[in-house]
Amino acid sequence: MLLCVGGGIAAFKACEAARLLVKAGAEVRCALTPAAQRFVTPLTFHALTGNAVATGLWDGGGSDPTILAAGHVSLADWAGVAVIAPATADLLAKLRAGLADDVVTATLLAIEPRLWIAAPAMNERMWRSPATQENVRALAERGVRFLGPAEGEMAERSHVGPGRMVEAQEIASAALRALGPRDLEGIAVLVTAGPTREALDPVRYLSNPSSGRMGFAVAEAARDRGAEVTLIAGPTEVAPPAGVRVLRIVSAQDLESAVNSSLDGARVVVMAAAVADQRPSEFSEQKVKKKEGEETLRLVRTPDVLAGLGTRFAGAQGRPLLVGFAAETERVEENARDKLARKNLDLIVANEVSQGFAGDENRVVVLGRDGGRAELAGTKRAVADALWDRIRALL
Ligand code: CTP
Repeated sequence: MLLCVGGGIAAFKACEAARLLVKAGAEVRCALTPAAQRFVTPLTFHALTGNAVATGLWDGGGSDPTILAAGHVSLADWAGVAVIAPATADLLAKLRAGLADDVVTATLLAIEPRLWIAAPAMNERMWRSPATQENVRALAERGVRFLGPAEGEMAERSHVGPGRMVEAQEIASAALRALGPRDLEGIAVLVTAGPTREALDPVRYLSNPSSGRMGFAVAEAARDRGAEVTLIAGPTEVAPPAGVRVLRIVSAQDLESAVNSSLDGARVVVMAAAVADQRPSEFSEQKVKKKEGEETLRLVRTPDVLAGLGTRFAGAQGRPLLVGFAAETERVEENARDKLARKNLDLIVANEVSQGFAGDENRVVVLGRDGGRAELAGTKRAVADALWDRIRALL
């Protein structure tokens, strides 16, 4: 793991990240920008990692002969994952432009962006500036993964807002996950996420507040493990992960068509979408006008996409594994087990949603056709990884 430290006050948290990574068994090397060395010393990282620290393009990487031999390129070759923490506004701008005027930027230029994990840290106005936002977007499109920034108090105490670097623990666990198994290499998977909208007229619809985050985490985790991911997503505020094929849909009917046309070759289908079960029986081309008194809205069922797959593949050879989600407010496991059987699924993820779908954390119970049961909790990404561990075991 290559830890690239930028010049910001949050550099002190990079020391803790280095310590946690070493403790977890990763081999860690560090590269510090000249600005970073004004906040923390190379000696700190040397002592924490036991490895020489790269501090300049011209110093050959300290006393380590392997770095000395071929400089930053050998460091780039060596790295499995590059963590950039703190990723300052200046560093992000340089990385976007492809500058290579210090050991950090030169090394990163020789590492594929999809292997970078960046933890931005800066004043909230610098974060919000159009320049920084453009740089972040461009880097994300190249496959760079961003952690944070978190909201909160800045080093300048009067400032509050997004810009704080996420905690060392979060950086370390994301980095360790990125170094994790590529046990889905080349496997095609289909993931659905987010809500559907069922239109009543051109300006009104029935929907639900699914954020899409859980399905996006499932797609992202599969991507990181080497899968070829097709993500079918309803309307969401959150952007889908980079590096996966994204098909946008609106209604349950669209979802059904998109799933059917993307099934070819899929070994796993994970239906995390919160599909509306009903749609208005009629769509009015013109905006529906209000009437006096009580009104009745007639609804008809939408296609149950997952149940359709369950029926279609029942007993079929080489069928894809079918994984459903069950959003429940009561008798969570009982209802989920019923859906597992009724829809002919391999796994179902039961989700207690009386507090809503929002947030980055989730707590679920995974039930298997074979009677297996596992409780998973943590960030949506951690839950997604644990779910893939189970799916992998069934493949
Ligand atoms: N699902 C689907 N098509 C639908 C409704 C649901 O494919 N029209 C999928 C969801 O993506 C999810 C699973 O079925 O993976 C269970 O969804 P849920 O709405 O919780 O279950 P329902 O069968 O709709 O049962 P109910 O609404 O009665 O709880």
